[in-house]
Amino acid sequence: MAAVTDLKTLLTSMRPVLRDGDFVYALWPHGRALEGDIEAAVREAEGLTVVVTRSEAERLGLSYDFVAAWITLQVHSALEAVGLTAAVSSALTHAGISCNVLAGFHHDHLLVPASDADRALEVLALLGRGLVLRTEGPADRSEILSLTSEAFAVSPVTGLPVDGTPEEVHLLRQLFDSDDYLPVFSIVAEMGGEIVGHVIATRGWSDELPMLGLGPISVQPHLQRQGIGTALMNEVTRRAEAAGESGIALLGSPVYYSRFGYRPASSLGVKAPESAWGDHFQVLPLSGWPADHRGTFRYAAPFAAI
Ligand SMILES: CC(C)(COP(=O)(O)OP(=O)(O)OC[C@H]1O[C@@H](n2cnc3c(N)ncnc32)[C@H](O)[C@@H]1OP(=O)(O)O)[C@@H](O)C(=O)NCCC(=O)NCCS
Repeated sequence: MAAVTDLKTLLTSMRPVLRDGDFVYALWPHGRALEGDIEAAVREAEGLTVVVTRSEAERLGLSYDFVAAWITLQVHSALEAVGLTAAVSSALTHAGISCNVLAGFHHDHLLVPASDADRALEVLALLGRGLVLRTEGPADRSEILSLTSEAFAVSPVTGLPVDGTPEEVHLLRQLFDSDDYLPVFSIVAEMGGEIVGHVIATRGWSDELPMLGLGPISVQPHLQRQGIGTALMNEVTRRAEAAGESGIALLGSPVYYSRFGYRPASSLGVKAPESAWGDHFQVLPLSGWPADHRGTFRYAAPFAAI
């Protein structure tokens, strides 16, 4: 099969596959004859770097630090193809995953930290659909506000068209300026350079227990029901877990959010700010959730205005 040069075709047909086992980088001892199963090698002025399986490194007595998973992009990429390495490493960087790229004659190979292997495959699967998740920045704000306006043009509560600017847009604008804004939990989904989805979680509390309050979340109407909301929800959960947050609270459909592990807040000892919210007020307990907790939730101050 001819080598592919077109970036879009390369991304949609990457077919990432995880090789079995762990791999390590090691410096080959100076003056020792090369032996064993070497997967890749680079000669530099300072010495020879080899990539071998962890078990082979141990058998050969080589020392190593970085333990990697090896992902092969099975698409036959032309060596002169432009942009695949940049697109892949940028998507992985946005996900906080470090990546070493090795180009073979036929394929590109990614060595990512072994503990990030599954998540790297998820990021690559999204990239194959043209989707990149990244932290939002001030330059994205106007695009996010228009997206939110479009997503909430029909009220999710009443199912009726909203008159004027949806209140979620005002809320979001205030959240961006609030002391309770936490940059790492404001995440956009980008497709072809355009923002097509956004989720935000801000500081909230159940009595004295710091938590996150999630919302609003928006996906461009013509791209809904294609998994973008799910990708954003999973990413915010992952980031919250990595940051050591205790749990995330939100108000929304139990049908939708239970699939992400959200439970009626009352079942976890958390009272809603409004008792009328019932089981629509939900909490996702993370690893640090205190089992015996009892409290009443309060959102970041801007929520009080809606
Ligand atoms: C809610 C929203 C963010 C979900 O994003 P999405 O990209 O469409 O979601 P996904 O494609 O990942 O998931 C779609 C699934 O969620 C379900 N779903 C989406 N919104 C739902 C809702 N409000 N209630 C119940 N289920 C819902 C769909 O039925 C679909 O289920 P299926 O996979 O069983 O068919 C998006 O629909 C949106 O922006 N809606 C308008 C704004 C809004 O309502 N925000 C949330 C307020 S709580």
